[in-house]
Amino acid sequence: MTQVSLKALATVVLAVASIGSTLAQDSKIADELAKYREALADGNPADLFEVKGEGLWLEKRGPKNASLEQCDLGQGPGKLEGAYASLPKYFKDTNKVMDVESRLVHCMMTLQGFTLAEATKQWYSKPGKDSDIEALVTFIGAKSNGMKIKVPATHPEEAKMAKMGEYIFYRRSGPQDFSCSICHGQEGKRIRLQELGNLTTQEGAGFAMKTWPSYRVSQGTVWTMQRRLIDCMRQARWPEPNYLADSIIALETYLQKTATGTVMETPGIKR
Ligand code: HEC
Repeated sequence: MTQVSLKALATVVLAVASIGSTLAQDSKIADELAKYREALADGNPADLFEVKGEGLWLEKRGPKNASLEQCDLGQGPGKLEGAYASLPKYFKDTNKVMDVESRLVHCMMTLQGFTLAEATKQWYSKPGKDSDIEALVTFIGAKSNGMKIKVPATHPEEAKMAKMGEYIFYRRSGPQDFSCSICHGQEGKRIRLQELGNLTTQEGAGFAMKTWPSYRVSQGTVWTMQRRLIDCMRQARWPEPNYLADSIIALETYLQKTATGTVMETPGIKR
């Protein structure tokens, strides 16, 4: 952590401590958090994941001793520019709408010969155990930095997934009768210090989606969108879906479609 970010962090900690007693300084906190994010962005630890991801992309690995260089993420084999910003997308070869993670795992299986279990075993990192997927997705995401999110979902299969995602977003279920929209369907909603954003508008969805994958300071690692959404399902007290489940890809399709036109700023950095 740099000098500046430590200073910013100290300011935030002080600001947070002081609301404990005074309670009335909402906008000040938001300002301080914005400053904190800005300072952190100076030296985003996600940059290290990006470098590691590039190494993994080029390295010959797996039973087939092959690199991922021929992986087709929707723009043609090996073409990474703008690929992340255009996913999820329908792929003819699998006859499925796939997001960046399901497509990456598909490439690890077909090109490198890993089994599904091997490829997804460490889909997110745990203390002392890094995740190749986190690094690879950070690398792939960064190749869309500065490009517009473009998921018009015009293919019938994509349109179906977007519709399904929208349905899941508004559907109330689980022991608390929660939906995504209860937390993310209005302006100005907040849980503790976190602004939740309105994911149903282009501006709100764009503000969120452009920054993923994102380094999460509170978690000390990069989170992919799959992890973000699976964790939000947990927050909604719903049963947790499997990694790469269609329900998650459907939500991603809906959110990326809503965010379409927003310029990517990735990798992001979050609390
Ligand atoms: C109980 C409230 C709650 C529910 C229900 C919930 N979330 Fe979240 N969501 C959060 C919180 C808290 C965050 C983290 C915000 C932060 O870190 O600033 C978050 C973050 C997100 C983000 C990232 C936003 C950003 O700005 O980067 C997305 C996308 C998201 N949620 C989607 C969903 C979806 C889709 C569902 C339904 C499956 C859902 N959430 C259900 C509370 C919730």
